[in-house]
Order: sequence, then structure tokens, then C-alpha cells
Amino acid sequence: MKTILITGGAGFIGSHLIRLFVNKYPDYKIVNLDKLTYAGNLNNLKDIENKPNYEFVKGDIVDSNFIQDLFEKRNFDGVIHLAAESHVDRSISNPTEFVFTNVIGTVNLLNSAKHVWKDNFEGKRFYHISTDEVYGSLGSEGIFTEETSYDPHSPYSASKASSDHFVRAYLDTFGLPSVISNCSNNYGSFQFPEKLIPLFIHNIKNKKPLPVYGKGENIRDWLWVVDHVRAIDIIFHEGKTGETYNIGGFNEWTNIDLIRLMCKKMDEKLGRTKGESEKLITFVKDRAGHDLRYAIDSTKIKNELGWEPSLQFEEGIELTIDWYLENEKWLNNVTSGDYQKYYDEQYINR
Ligand code: NAD
Ligand code: TYD
Repeated sequence: MKTILITGGAGFIGSHLIRLFVNKYPDYKIVNLDKLTYAGNLNNLKDIENKPNYEFVKGDIVDSNFIQDLFEKRNFDGVIHLAAESHVDRSISNPTEFVFTNVIGTVNLLNSAKHVWKDNFEGKRFYHISTDEVYGSLGSEGIFTEETSYDPHSPYSASKASSDHFVRAYLDTFGLPSVISNCSNNYGSFQFPEKLIPLFIHNIKNKKPLPVYGKGENIRDWLWVVDHVRAIDIIFHEGKTGETYNIGGFNEWTNIDLIRLMCKKMDEKLGRTKGESEKLITFVKDRAGHDLRYAIDSTKIKNELGWEPSLQFEEGIELTIDWYLENEKWLNNVTSGDYQKYYDEQYINR
């Protein structure tokens, strides 16, 4: 039986990945290591928490002694590393936290893997989950390929870029077998409602203002989270050591078009008059250093590993809106307490 460590498994993408692996690979022991920050929520994993091949470990990747001890005790065959501080706005308010978790936390995992796997990297794999934001911002033309130079602008993307460089450095210097993927913006169930899509679904439902940064002209390339974790599965098992794979849906939307689409769909679902929810749109001060456009070329993963998105965006956004409307309890639970404090700081008087 293989033992696989997945870090950040109580978060948005991590919980979808854990669900996929626990159900698909009964002969793997899946260990979910998560600190349970504001973004980590074990309610995301209720359906698989009692499965015999799943185990949760609460811990902080920044704590090097704890990580070293865990690796020594558990003899992991592979690591899929998702634990991170992931929200750009929070990285603007508190950059240092991003350096600790995203850079130092990643280096701690690399050190422990190197230490316990030493002299025997056969069959081992360290898979680092990264973002397209490391490539910086595009103008109206162009697309990010695996050869695009890194040019991060936010403290979040700078910390992710740094962690990617460390992963590559440990392969080149110590032979630690790694693979990296850089994915575009994900959407779907269980995403913490500080990110655009779940936040705006929540606000539309509650008739709260929809805070659009700047003119809403920024462009993101949206991918259904289930398609991202399908890609992670394929890369973990079939990707080539030392390679980078871009993952995206060829699905670009300006923020304002996407927001109008969500308003329209929610008017229909909530039985509101046409155009009612759009009135909630409120243009607010732009995000500092706001990247204009992300767009991913995912030709390599398609050609080499046969991955393609399975779901069209119009269907995916519909499913996503329905999920948040049907899971009010989950949403209320994560939007109480500390999150409310963050929300007030972020948006009041912006
Ligand atoms: P998330 O914020 O929803 O979840 C992050 C998880 O990491 C949480 O469960 C949190 O408790 C855990 N965590 C944070 N700090 C930790 C620490 N010090 N020790 C242990 N656990 C810790 O993030 P997400 O959106 O699921 O993103 C997961 C990964 O995918 C991140 O590495 C992110 O950079 C990357 N990514 C995200 C997107 C996206 O659109 N969300 C796109 C591309 C790549
Ligand atoms: P976000 O979901 O934070 O993802 P990222 O910044 O990593 O792409 O934001 C997506 C886009 O939506 C981004 O261009 C910023 C914008 N945005 C708003 O206009 N208002 C908001 O309240 C939020 C959270 C984001």
C-alpha cells in the first residue's frame, strides 16, 4: 500500500483532490496534513472522513520539527503539496504570512522529503501545485506557456514563484524528483467566499453590494475545480519528473461579464425580476498591482497526457451557483466570526 501525503487537503482544491484519491485509490493511504487556517474546513470532507484509507493530521508546514518528525514516522511514497495562503488581497494586507507558509513551508517539506528519501528516490515524487499568477500579467494579446518567464506582481504570486524555484532547485541540486503544475483560476463547490465567484453568489443571494475592483475589465481564465484535480491525478501518476504542466480551460472572462452572467442566472433561480441583481454592482477602488489578464495555454498537458476539461463553463457555473444556494449551512458556517471581521476591514470604506 502506498502512502501519499496531501497538504492543504481541508481547503478548496485540496478537499476535491482528497475526495478523488480516497475514492479512486482504495489501495493508497491518503494522509491529509492541514493547519486548518480560516480557509481549511473539515466539513468539506464529511463524505469521506470515515473511509479506512483516509487520515487527517493537524499541523503547520512552517513548523520544521513537526514536519521532519511526520516524515520520519510515516515513510511517504509521494507528496502532493497544496497547503498555502492563497488569497491575493490578504497577501497585500499581510505579505509576511505568505512568505512563511508558501516559501518556508514548502522548503520545510522539501528538506524533510530529501532527508528521509535520501539515496533512494526510486518511485518517489514531490508534486508542487502552483498557479498561473507566477507568470505575471498579459496585455490583450498572448498566452502563458510553460516557457513564459516568471514575472510575479503580488506578494501571493511572488511567494508562489519563489516556492516553484525552490522545488526546481532541489531537483537540480539534490536530485529530489519533482513535478510542478501551474493552473488558472478555479471555481466550484467548497471555495471560501472571499474569492470572486462564491463571494458574489453569497452577496447576490443576500442583496449585498457586489464590490467590483476598478472597472471590472480584468480577465481571468476559469477552470472547474473537478477538472483541475483530474489533471493533478494524471500528472501525479504519468507526468515526467522535472517537467512543468500548465492547466487551464481556454475560458477567458472579463470580471464584469462574468458578474453580469451570475446576476442573470441568479435572478432566474431566485425568481427576481430581470436586471434586479445587477443593480447591486458597485465599482470600488482597484486592487493594488491588479494583474490585467491571465490566459493559460494547456496544449502540453493535452498532447502529452491526454487531459482536457470535461465541463463547459456555462454548465459549470450553473452547478456552482446551485451548490452554494443548496448549501446555505456550509456558507453561513464559514462566513461567521473571524471572516466577518476580515470582510469589514476589506470592504468598508474601500
Ligand atoms: P485554500 O486557501 O482554499 O486552501 C489552503 C489550505 O491550506 C487550507 O486548508 C489551509 O488550512 C491550509 N494551510 C494554510 N497554511 C497552512 C500551513 N501553514 N500548514 C498547513 N496547512 C496550511 O486554497 P486553494 O484555493 O484550495 O489552493 C490550493 C493550492 O492551489 C494553493 O497552493 C494555491 O496556490 C494553488 N492554486 C489555487 C488556485 C485557485 O484558483 N484557487 C489556482 C491555481 C493554483
Ligand atoms: P480572486 O477570486 O481573488 O482571484 P485572483 O485574484 O487570484 O485572480 O479575484 C478574481 C478577479 O476578481 C480579480 O481580477 C479580482 C476581482 N475581484 C473583484 O473585482 N472584487 C472582489 O471582491 C474580489 C474578491 C475579486
